[in-house]
Amino acid sequence: MKNMFSKGLVVLSLMIFAGSANVMAQSVFAEGAKWGSKVKEALDALELKGDPENGYDIYQVCAACHLPTAWGDPAGTFPMLAGQHTSVLIKQIADIRAGNRDNPTMYPFAIQIEGAQDLADVVAYIATLPMNPDPPTGDGKLLKRGEELYKVNCVKCHKETGEGSIKDSFPLIGGQVYDYIIRQLKWIRDGKRRNANPDMVKQVNEFSDEDFIAVADYVARLKTPNHKRNLDELKTNPIYKNVKH
Ligand code: HEC
Ligand code: HEC
Repeated sequence: MKNMFSKGLVVLSLMIFAGSANVMAQSVFAEGAKWGSKVKEALDALELKGDPENGYDIYQVCAACHLPTAWGDPAGTFPMLAGQHTSVLIKQIADIRAGNRDNPTMYPFAIQIEGAQDLADVVAYIATLPMNPDPPTGDGKLLKRGEELYKVNCVKCHKETGEGSIKDSFPLIGGQVYDYIIRQLKWIRDGKRRNANPDMVKQVNEFSDEDFIAVADYVARLKTPNHKRNLDELKTNPIYKNVKH
């Protein structure tokens, strides 16, 4: 695995390569996929113990887009991965690899992961990274409405603090990049994210774009228990010293 990726590539060349791979990748995404489709690789990876040291090597290619901190980019093109539940990371990467979640930008890189063990390893490394304590948010003008919408429509699955559920693979969304949250909500509503949970699709069906702005701003500001946990673990994390902020 270690030599699979050319570490010298810069984001720009990654993006150009990914762009040219779009056409090729389309055919992989032709089949319908549903929430709950079990990808065998994900089930296998969940059973394995990940090796974060090997995961660090694998993560170097991911860092070109998700950044060395795994905080994503402020414009929301790339999501924050730090703090996300291992069950969610494994499910999402396996779904992207299997073509259940369309991600033509990342697909050419995702398919280079060599199998369940490497998947478990890279996720074990990501799990060591602390979350962004000060993530990008909206302008704060619709927070009251955002809170109301969140409490009625989202708490059941994503919980009061936005921590989601490791057991049910409900993503942690508190502190996720604001613009990424908005895009995902729109894609889930409009059926563009095919592995989405159907109950969540129903929940956001009636939302306007302004509702999404309101709820995303509220969610981006939530502080989950993982914010603190990862910072505590950081003190004893031998590999984190390699990450530059
Ligand atoms: C060329 C850029 C690029 C590279 C390289 C890349 N990703 Fe991604 N990744 C993306 C984009 C873009 C998205 C968000 C797609 C969307 O909006 O649905 C994403 C989404 C994800 C998600 C889903 C996050 C969520 O909250 O649902 C995970 C997990 C992930 N990437 C992990 C990885 C890992 C691990 C690697 C390295 C093996 C990697 N990515 C390499 C661009 C990239
Ligand atoms: C019935 C449970 C449920 C409800 C209710 C729900 N969600 Fe979700 N949500 C999920 C699941 C499950 C996923 C991951 C789907 C997948 O695997 O692609 C998800 C994904 C997301 C994502 C993408 C996360 C990422 O990292 O890519 C965002 C953002 C999100 N939900 C926000 C919300 C908001 C805001 C609400 C309320 C308006 C809401 N959800 C209501 C279950 C739910």
